[in-house]
Amino acid sequence: MRQSFLQAPASARHCPLRQPPGPSGPIARPLNSDTLIEIDRVTFGYDERRTILENLSLRFARGKVTAVLGGSGCGKTTLLRLIGGVHPANSGRVVFDGEVIDTHDSAQLYRLRRRLGMLFQFGALFTDLTVFDNVAYPLREMTDLPEALIRDIVLMKLNAVGLRGAAPLKISEVSGGMARRIALARAIALDPELIMYDEPFAGLDLISMGVAAKLIRTLNDVTGATSLVISHDVPECMAISDHVVLLANGGRIVAQGTPAELMASTDPEVRQFVRGEPDGPVKFHYPAPDIAEDFGLGLATGAGR
Ligand SMILES: Nc1ncnc2c1ncn2[C@@H]1O[C@H](COP(=O)(O)OP(=O)(O)O)[C@@H](O)[C@H]1O
Ligand SMILES: [Mg+2]
Repeated sequence: MRQSFLQAPASARHCPLRQPPGPSGPIARPLNSDTLIEIDRVTFGYDERRTILENLSLRFARGKVTAVLGGSGCGKTTLLRLIGGVHPANSGRVVFDGEVIDTHDSAQLYRLRRRLGMLFQFGALFTDLTVFDNVAYPLREMTDLPEALIRDIVLMKLNAVGLRGAAPLKISEVSGGMARRIALARAIALDPELIMYDEPFAGLDLISMGVAAKLIRTLNDVTGATSLVISHDVPECMAISDHVVLLANGGRIVAQGTPAELMASTDPEVRQFVRGEPDGPVKFHYPAPDIAEDFGLGLATGAGR
């Protein structure tokens, strides 16, 4: 894969953006910061009854692939929403390239989101549009580029994911693996500095999974972007990430480190996580009455635990 296929022409990289609503302040980027995103003691709940993330602190390094791994419902997508400024944290700060995200500042959000590419869980493509028009969508929405240039960029992005030939197809005509790659081409259409992937491997067959994983790594390295992968697929994430964070319920960090460090860990909870063992510190069984009691057997053996 050649670099030129992935990077838009210089004119597109500095494309004439539509003006954001309201005034837009300067970007105060700290010099020499290796951190693109900082989650600083963030606590969040959708309502006051339940806290989803509690006092979570994390840093995502610039130019690297970081994976946040955790079981369903532990708050991974919620974390992406907080970074995207969809919800405000109840307490703590989310800092994007030195700027504290303020969900009430629509001009800031517009500016920051313009620097962010998002691969939504299950792709979220427009099924009645062609492959080409799906990838062109953010370019048409967010820029005033002439259609001829949009065409070149779309074909470049599709080429980067190996699907230039599929441009005229309808989304309803492509396979699940292709759809994921099209969503990826759309996520990188505007040359984002941060690409966030929500469950990029979910529902894919093994080959498509391998293709998607390799693409995430390659796109990160070739474009110089920072990638954040949220997933429960351990082997794929271990294979492509520079840094892995293991997250448990409540946004508790079980462990973090390089894939090699985590694979070598002797901590029982980490081992259960990275090896996918059904039982360990995280129990297979949800807390329940004794099995004999539930089945009316009167034998308090506790064998079902
Ligand atoms: N919009 C919402 N409103 C209320 N609760 C939500 C909302 N989105 C997610 N949740 C709840 O928050 C918890 C974490 O969800 P989520 O971040 O989607 O988990 P994950 O992506 O790790 O599977 C879940 O219990 C989920 O039911
Ligand atoms: Mg999720």
